[in-house]
Amino acid sequence: MLKQVQQDDFIIIKREVKMIIGIGVDVVEFQRMKTLLEKWNDIFLNKILTQKEIEYCVAKKNIVQHVAARFAAKEAVAKALSIGWSGSFRWKDVEITNDDSGKPSVVLHQELQKILSSKNIFLSLSHSESTIVAFVVIEG
Ligand SMILES: CC(C)(COP(=O)(O)OP(=O)(O)OC[C@H]1O[C@@H](n2cnc3c(N)ncnc32)[C@H](O)[C@@H]1OP(=O)(O)O)[C@@H](O)C(=O)NCCC(=O)NCCS
Repeated sequence: MLKQVQQDDFIIIKREVKMIIGIGVDVVEFQRMKTLLEKWNDIFLNKILTQKEIEYCVAKKNIVQHVAARFAAKEAVAKALSIGWSGSFRWKDVEITNDDSGKPSVVLHQELQKILSSKNIFLSLSHSESTIVAFVVIEG
């Protein structure tokens, strides 16, 4: 994170020194996600994605790729945190948003938001016809 620091008459731009505390990667097969969506459709979407994420995906030509990317991103966040999908940890507590340029970010909710409020989470997504990849770095 870049930080502006006022010191005497100078404004210094500093990058806070933070450590990488976790990385996570996940790969999803396009065909596997397509089969899941054909079988479960709304049930699956509503279990895994927030309303905003669903709106983002259904507005795209290739819905399956974007759903798979969000699924992979959530799995990658879980790996980076070294925690499993159990207890109070829920799919929708990890939300993927995109800025105007398309760049994705992770927005946390509920307990995760409280626990990780001081951490920076970086996410990169990529899709090919057959494969979707998410890579996450957590800095704190
Ligand atoms: C970023 C970009 C190169 C990706 O193109 P691509 O190779 O066709 O896409 P991929 O399948 O590898 O990746 C798609 C994912 O890239 C991510 N992405 C899109 N725009 C992005 C951006 N500006 N910065 C970072 N990631 C971006 C998204 O997460 C997207 O998946 P999603 O829509 O499901 O969230 C392309 O969208 C682009 O040229 N954007 C405009 C230029 C730009 O802003 N470039 C900056 C990054 S080089």
